[in-house]
Amino acid sequence: MTALLEVRDLRVGYGHVEAVRGVSFSVSAGEVVALIGPNGAGKSSTLNAIGGLVRPASGSVKLEGRELAGLPSHAVVAAGLILVPEGRAILHRMTVLENLIAGAEARPWPGGRGEARAAVETQVRRFPSLQRRLDQPAGALSGGEQQMLAIARGVLGRPRILLLDEPSMGLAPLLVRQIFEIIEEINKDGTTILLVEQNARMALQTAQNAYVLERGEIALHGPAADLAKDPRLQAAYLGGDVA
Ligand SMILES: Nc1ncnc2c1ncn2[C@@H]1O[C@H](COP(=O)(O)OP(=O)(O)OP(=O)(O)O)[C@@H](O)[C@H]1O
Ligand SMILES: [Mg+2]
Repeated sequence: MTALLEVRDLRVGYGHVEAVRGVSFSVSAGEVVALIGPNGAGKSSTLNAIGGLVRPASGSVKLEGRELAGLPSHAVVAAGLILVPEGRAILHRMTVLENLIAGAEARPWPGGRGEARAAVETQVRRFPSLQRRLDQPAGALSGGEQQMLAIARGVLGRPRILLLDEPSMGLAPLLVRQIFEIIEEINKDGTTILLVEQNARMALQTAQNAYVLERGEIALHGPAADLAKDPRLQAAYLGGDVA
């Protein structure tokens, strides 16, 4: 069986900085895979290269066997891979509802606009705080609500795989738990997820498999439950990391 997403020997550089130095991993259909590691390890560079926001220097990114490396982000989205980048990429001046509709229209719906609107209505039920604020500008939402909106937008694009870059960044513990609960629900509904997190503890609780990135290379990988018990990880990332 081939993986849903297969990344092989991915390299990303910025001038003379080699941010990603030959990273390989795979994600099977239906699972949550976590990519964890310290600041500057190359996590965002990896996701951005997969999502077509940054052009990789070399390597292969295959979604269901189809090569995506080097394609522009709109072509990657059309192929079914949606990235919610670090820092909540929402349209601040548009309303919450307009943001959601734009997310739903990232890919065509067989039933046209009517079906897209119905999907928006279904999706907002998962996010009560958004449902109450559909007519407000997205820029007026709190940080946690903006992150919920960014995730909801991503899901509405009906990705084969959803890539989330630090969805819990900067949020209070209660909101961090809510975000992880939503990630679990989205996965239970059948969406495969590649999750980048600095909150290693929560990420390893949510994921089935995980990879640890250090200085642009995969330092450790395995079942998330095993990594959570790994003394090398305990020392480096799981010590004071309480959510
Ligand atoms: N646009 C850029 N131009 C130049 N260097 C960059 C750029 N983006 C990232 N880098 C460098 O590449 C390396 C990897 O950065 P990256 O953002 O991918 O790491 P990260 O693991 O996502 O870190 P963080 O946990 O802080 O988000 C770092 O040394 C960073 O300074
Ligand atoms: Mg990052």
